[in-house]
Amino acid sequence: MTIISILGGTGHEGSGLGLRWAKAGHSIIIGSRALEKAQTAAAELNAKLGANSVRGMDNAAAAKEGDIVVLAVPYSAHAATIESVKEAVQGKIFVDVTVPLVPPKVSRVQMPAAGSASQEAQNLLGPNVKVVSAFQNISAEHLKDSDHPIDCDVLVCGDDKDAKAVVIALATDAGIKAWDAGPLANAVIPEGLASVLIGLNLRYKVKSSGIRITGIE
Ligand SMILES: NC(=O)c1ccc[n+]([C@@H]2O[C@H](COP(=O)([O-])OP(=O)(O)OC[C@H]3O[C@@H](n4cnc5c(N)ncnc54)[C@H](OP(=O)(O)O)[C@@H]3O)[C@@H](O)[C@H]2O)c1
Repeated sequence: MTIISILGGTGHEGSGLGLRWAKAGHSIIIGSRALEKAQTAAAELNAKLGANSVRGMDNAAAAKEGDIVVLAVPYSAHAATIESVKEAVQGKIFVDVTVPLVPPKVSRVQMPAAGSASQEAQNLLGPNVKVVSAFQNISAEHLKDSDHPIDCDVLVCGDDKDAKAVVIALATDAGIKAWDAGPLANAVIPEGLASVLIGLNLRYKVKSSGIRITGIE
């Protein structure tokens, strides 16, 4: 069975993805800086699921144990978290969910010099890691109730076609329509779009605006 480890999985986005993937039958590890916090979050997800498919570990152990490693931490913790798991994720699919928000103006697109957070991840991890950029445009609000139908697509970017196909299948398992949006260099769009959606949420007083791709059967 494929093991999916979610670094920062104690948070809003990571725990929502973990809940939905566990419900779909995957083995999930919630990663945290603190083992006890990870174990508490895992126990809460298992209680919601009525199952025992979620474990909690510190981020280093989670990265080592997972076949697929997902990063869902605030951008301020992005580089340091990646550096801390660099060796453990060599040869693996590394899914970067991070949006490079720069507080306080989080509704303004402010991309890093490398182009995107996902590109920074690839640069830090090196060519043996298959970095896939995904899930930046799906609000945690949609994920936390696993029965809630999701009215939002996600764009999946990466330089390895097979790795992208794996992540698109994971999105499907989570009840989300995902599209192959091209190479990792294109991650600038979904990451930037996340700030646009935050602005729409603020201006239109909603919690979870999203996007749909149309015109493809
Ligand atoms: N929330 C959303 O709707 C949403 C949607 C799309 C994308 N995203 C992106 O997904 C990422 C996670 O978002 P979130 O809302 O889940 O964030 P969050 O709940 O604020 O944080 C996620 C986890 O990151 C860890 N963390 C926090 N500060 C850290 C630090 N200084 N160093 C290392 N780890 C730290 C914490 O885990 P531990 O304390 O357990 O280590 C925390 O539970 C962000 O980049 C966000 O932009 C969020």
